[in-house]
Amino acid sequence: MPVPPPSPLLHLPLGELEGVDEATWLDVIQKMDEVYSKLVSDEVELEEKNAQLEQSQQFIFSLLSAMSDVLIACNQDGLIEETNAALCELVGRSEQALLGSPVLDLLADEQSVQRWQLALYHSDSRSGVVVEINLRDAMGQVVAVDFNCTPRHNSAGRQVGRVLVGRPLGELKRAYHQLREAHEALKLAQQQLLHSEKMASLGRLVAGVAHELNNPISFVLGNVHVLQRYGTRLSRYLEAVHRLELPNEVQALRAELRIDHLLKDLPSLLEGTLEGAQRTTDIVSGLKRFSTVGHEEVTPVEINGVVERAILWVKKGTAPRFQVHWTRGADCYVTGNAGQLLQVMMNLVQNAYDAANTEGDKTPQLRIILQQTAGTVQLHFADNGPGIAPAHLSRIFDPFFTTKSVGKGTGLGLSISYGIVEQHGGHLTVDNLPQGGAQFTLTLPLVAP
Ligand SMILES: Nc1ncnc2c1ncn2[C@@H]1O[C@H](COP(=O)(O)OP(=O)(O)OP(=O)(O)O)[C@@H](O)[C@H]1O
Ligand SMILES: [Mg+2]
Repeated sequence: MPVPPPSPLLHLPLGELEGVDEATWLDVIQKMDEVYSKLVSDEVELEEKNAQLEQSQQFIFSLLSAMSDVLIACNQDGLIEETNAALCELVGRSEQALLGSPVLDLLADEQSVQRWQLALYHSDSRSGVVVEINLRDAMGQVVAVDFNCTPRHNSAGRQVGRVLVGRPLGELKRAYHQLREAHEALKLAQQQLLHSEKMASLGRLVAGVAHELNNPISFVLGNVHVLQRYGTRLSRYLEAVHRLELPNEVQALRAELRIDHLLKDLPSLLEGTLEGAQRTTDIVSGLKRFSTVGHEEVTPVEINGVVERAILWVKKGTAPRFQVHWTRGADCYVTGNAGQLLQVMMNLVQNAYDAANTEGDKTPQLRIILQQTAGTVQLHFADNGPGIAPAHLSRIFDPFFTTKSVGKGTGLGLSISYGIVEQHGGHLTVDNLPQGGAQFTLTLPLVAP
């Protein structure tokens, strides 16, 4: 402890203190000395306390500066009382500019204002509340910050404001977003794998069924054709017989057996049988195609040409008023079977027409877009039909799934197409367009021409 200097009064010559009783003076001087030395010791103590205060201020300042999380301490009116370097850097303002300004000034949007107000309302417990608030950064961009908002009390335990400590979510969000995308891709791949598995086992089952059905149905069909010819000949013969003068009992038998009615009915009966047999044959050959995909001749196939032929054949067949928007792109080749690829595209074009043609007086339209990306060609078939019901999306490639009336569709088109595309090393997907209508996307690997 420093030694206090002697009192200045002690240096005065006694002659200058004339008229004053010496003992009294000595008393006064002693008292003054005491007061003086007390003053000096108080000053020393004060200086020590000041030094301690400065040290702890320095410590707090270094803590605040070192914090990478942003800090806001505000009073009950939401005015900033303390902040740190991380917040100053984030919002691009100096500490002086921030102190005393409202927290609301930092918020980027109305939603954040509402969240901030809710956080003020709910942050009375020690654990506080977690709230995501958007701030505007130094460049004017919105930055989401995950804040923990806790109450701040004075020494008497009265709440005097709030403390917010937060971390910008940008990085975290980006990582989360990437994770979600990877998860979605994985889910899709898993679904496709499951679907391929399902198709492969269905293919084996269907091959067996088609094989078993093929023989009986072909002789039913063959026999019906023969029966039709026989029927025509029999009718001609009976009509000639009926023109003759026949005995009464034959006439009676003709009436009893309703031979005339029978002769009239026979052609339509045979016609119906033939149609049924024909439809069954079509289904069986569809099944065979479904299960034997991949055994056809493989050559380089130019895709623009296939699209054009598919449009031409569908329009010629059933859809002359179909508006197909298609612009031929640069030549691009895939390795595969031209006939099978034509079959896939014709089915997509035909389906689009069938869907869009049910929509009242609306002109059925289809937009086909060809895109070449690194190593693949993508064809989008987007129609203006009603789109596909969400419940149907997962079943649309299943064999025999159809919403068309009996005789209009077998429900094999898309499942066969799916198999063909898979065999060509590509994939076929479907989604609904935001503006309405369905979009099928066919992706195939490109080869050098
Ligand atoms: N562009 C589309 N818009 C809306 N629904 C569609 C579209 N394409 C296909 N679908 C639905 O998918 C079902 C299955 O189509 P798929 O081509 O497999 O069979 P289909 O057209 O019914 O019969 P098939 O092709 O054997 O004559 C259709 O019945 C229809 O309900
Ligand atoms: Mg179809």
